[in-house]
Amino acid sequence: MNKQTIEENIGRVLEKTDYKNLGARRQGKVRDIYTQPDKIILVSTDRYSAFDRNLALIPFKGQVLTQTSKFWFDQTKDIIQNHIISSPDPNVVVVKKCSVIPIEMVVRGYITGVTGTSLWTLYNGGQRDFGDFTLPDGIKKNQKLDHPLLTPTTKADDHDRPLTTKDIVEQKIVPEELWKQLADTATKLFKRGQEVALSRGLILVDTKYEFGLAEDGKLMLIDEIHTPDSSRYWQADSYQRRINAGQEPQNFDKEFLRLWFKQNSDPYNDKTLPPAPADMVAELSSRYIQIYEQITGEKFETDLETQIGERIAENLKQFQIN
Ligand SMILES: Nc1ncnc2c1ncn2[C@@H]1O[C@H](COP(=O)(O)OP(=O)(O)O)[C@@H](O)[C@H]1O
Ligand SMILES: [Mg+2]
Repeated sequence: MNKQTIEENIGRVLEKTDYKNLGARRQGKVRDIYTQPDKIILVSTDRYSAFDRNLALIPFKGQVLTQTSKFWFDQTKDIIQNHIISSPDPNVVVVKKCSVIPIEMVVRGYITGVTGTSLWTLYNGGQRDFGDFTLPDGIKKNQKLDHPLLTPTTKADDHDRPLTTKDIVEQKIVPEELWKQLADTATKLFKRGQEVALSRGLILVDTKYEFGLAEDGKLMLIDEIHTPDSSRYWQADSYQRRINAGQEPQNFDKEFLRLWFKQNSDPYNDKTLPPAPADMVAELSSRYIQIYEQITGEKFETDLETQIGERIAENLKQFQIN
């Protein structure tokens, strides 16, 4: 889809939903979650979240995230069973309800990042001992790691805290056997992700997985997988050249809109925020669509006639309860 079509459809967004008779509704940062006795309906909206609030609505983002995740669940189902039951709408997946394991399984193939908790920031600040691994001196920013590293964190509402194997076992967050299975599975998923991404000209740099236990106790991959919201992607063809030239890799970048809000408002304190400039919103939408197409090798298709909220309501009728 070209930029002009996106601009013409800048108002074609799903902000939130409030469907009746689909089960108890809860709102996540990006998705609306309807919980039923045995299943959950995950509706991806077009919310763009940062600073713990919704900054803007990005056309087609909800569909891109849903379909990217579906692609990857399919590509990894021989490694581990996942929560998907069906996808009755381009923005929706119906999934098995699981008890969520309270660990964010972060896997990194490269040393990078800018935030205070990113591996590069810590390493650059002098840290070498990370509990489960130590890193040697002399590693450069954005360099490939010898093998993927696991840097799990707690899955807390406020601040994610780093966890080591020792913490996980001592604090009995999960039994040691299950922890081994989680670590092994996350590593396998990441390697598969890197292989498939590379076949599309992309480097899967790092990502985050969530796991849950199904009612029968089976370990399941849940939430989303390898989406541009949960993962970092770089273009493979320009990576070495840019590193050699001392440049940053060419990345899928959604930071520019967050930065705009930082420069044009006080996003942690202002009651209302200025509206994001339409050309920046369209640019971000276009980037989401492009990365979707590159990852999956599919053209992004959507119906521009029907109103999204109404289409979803229609497609979810079959899941109404009480
Ligand atoms: N199969 C599942 N069973 C139970 N909870 C799930 C399942 N899949 C995803 N979730 C939860 O649903 C929520 C998804 O919505 P999201 O907008 O990503 O929320 P958050 O703001 O917590 O990131 C997450 O809290 C995730 O842990
Ligand atoms: Mg989430």
